[in-house]
Amino acid sequence: MNKSIFSKLLSSYIGIVLVAVTIVGSMQVYLVQNYLIKNKEQELVVRSQELSDIVKPFLLTNSDPRPVLLTVNRADRVLGTEAWIIDKDGKVIVASADHLYCVGNTLEEMDLDQLKSGKVSIRTGQTEYFKKAMIRTIAPIFDENQFIGGVILYSPVKGVNDTTKTMSKLYLGAALIGILISICIGFLLTKQITRPIKRVCEVTKSIADGKFDERVELKSKDELNVLASSINHMTKRLSEHEKMRRNFVANVSHELRSPLTSIQGYIDALIQGKGKDRQDENRYLQILQKETHRLIRLVNDLLEISQFDSQTATFDVDGFPLRSIVDRALTSLKIQLEGKHLTVNIDIPQNLPFCYGDEDRIEQVIYNLLDNAIRYSSHGGLIIIFATSLNEEVLVEITDFGQGIPPQDIPFIWDRFYRVDKARSRSEGGTGLGLAIVKGIVDKHGGQVLVKSRLGEGSKFSFTLKQSEPETET
Ligand SMILES: Nc1ncnc2c1ncn2[C@@H]1O[C@H](COP(=O)(O)OP(=O)(O)OP(=O)(O)O)[C@@H](O)[C@H]1O
Ligand SMILES: [Mg+2]
Repeated sequence: MNKSIFSKLLSSYIGIVLVAVTIVGSMQVYLVQNYLIKNKEQELVVRSQELSDIVKPFLLTNSDPRPVLLTVNRADRVLGTEAWIIDKDGKVIVASADHLYCVGNTLEEMDLDQLKSGKVSIRTGQTEYFKKAMIRTIAPIFDENQFIGGVILYSPVKGVNDTTKTMSKLYLGAALIGILISICIGFLLTKQITRPIKRVCEVTKSIADGKFDERVELKSKDELNVLASSINHMTKRLSEHEKMRRNFVANVSHELRSPLTSIQGYIDALIQGKGKDRQDENRYLQILQKETHRLIRLVNDLLEISQFDSQTATFDVDGFPLRSIVDRALTSLKIQLEGKHLTVNIDIPQNLPFCYGDEDRIEQVIYNLLDNAIRYSSHGGLIIIFATSLNEEVLVEITDFGQGIPPQDIPFIWDRFYRVDKARSRSEGGTGLGLAIVKGIVDKHGGQVLVKSRLGEGSKFSFTLKQSEPETET
């Protein structure tokens, strides 16, 4: 790919230079040639007018102008210019020594008409007599408005062509050097452009092969740099994702293994009749029930999380009163609450606007937060459930005065499987998915979660929810 971009860029660069040089060169040659010919024509016109003044007395007196002309022609011979004279009928009466045979020939009617009207005739091109390109000017001679003849001047175009040829050669030389230099510059420039592209390609290829530690480092500060930082960012995210996926699989297996091992152990014990009596067996069965519950909860939590990940979770959104779901969650947690002799203080205003969202899922949020508050509170403690309307949103806070969270753990408690005290949390049935699900649900609702906690003093978990139409709770 790089090779083709490189050759494409370089060849188009060279192509552009060549086209530009050719156009400029041919225009220059064409313009200079035209300019030189025009100049020469003007020069000849002036000269032929001068000559007509010299020749005029001879024509008037009918004397022979040949000697004068011959002198003139001899002088001009070096330049290749020669002068002829015509009479009033356009007949050549004097020609140069080389073209004496032309004496007696007459001008074309058209030229003659032009001369008679007082205009100088100018022509450039191939001529019958010279067998090469010539510039020809004819200046008319008048005597008291009477056309009496004219002076023809011939001069070869070759001189002009020689000049342009020399110029073209010089230009070609300069152009060649220019082309060579620009090809070199083009080569370096193209290399410079394609090198980072090549690097980006290499890196993306190794990323595709799973090497997430590769990074694109570019010196330039252009669009490619933006691309490079996007790729680096993407790689970082991919690598995090990959790490998270691996951790997740490891965690899930780990979490599944302990209840399963325990289940297996108790089943073995039951089969082998290890229980001493009916009471013992019952105890085993209760443990089996607890572990199975734990497994079912774990699987359900995992399913929920995987739905968030795959964006397949469906939300049944509507307005609902917060109080009713708080009551439902408290009812579900009644046994735990009573088991720890906890007091729950509910501070939800009567006129709190309805919340807007998926009622069942928000109930799960409150359930998970309350479950934590209960689990990490000490016996006889207090839990406060507070809600208020704030900036068009409903703010819910669940406060406990339990063990609290160490500051260094606070940033991670929303992560999957994160538990401050692994052994203790697990022994109490926790898997570290509760808060991850809370955050997942609140995020999907466009709300925010927040935690404030002090070790040994307690924790306050809060989240915000959209407010529904201005109906109020009754
Ligand atoms: N109210 C709280 N007081 C003190 N620590 C808490 C509180 N809530 C959460 N934590 C800490 O954060 C960790 C993560 O909580 P999370 O609810 O995600 O998991 P869990 O309660 O351990 O397990 P489960 O998946 O059953 O909820 C807990 O293990 C605990 O260490
Ligand atoms: Mg929990």
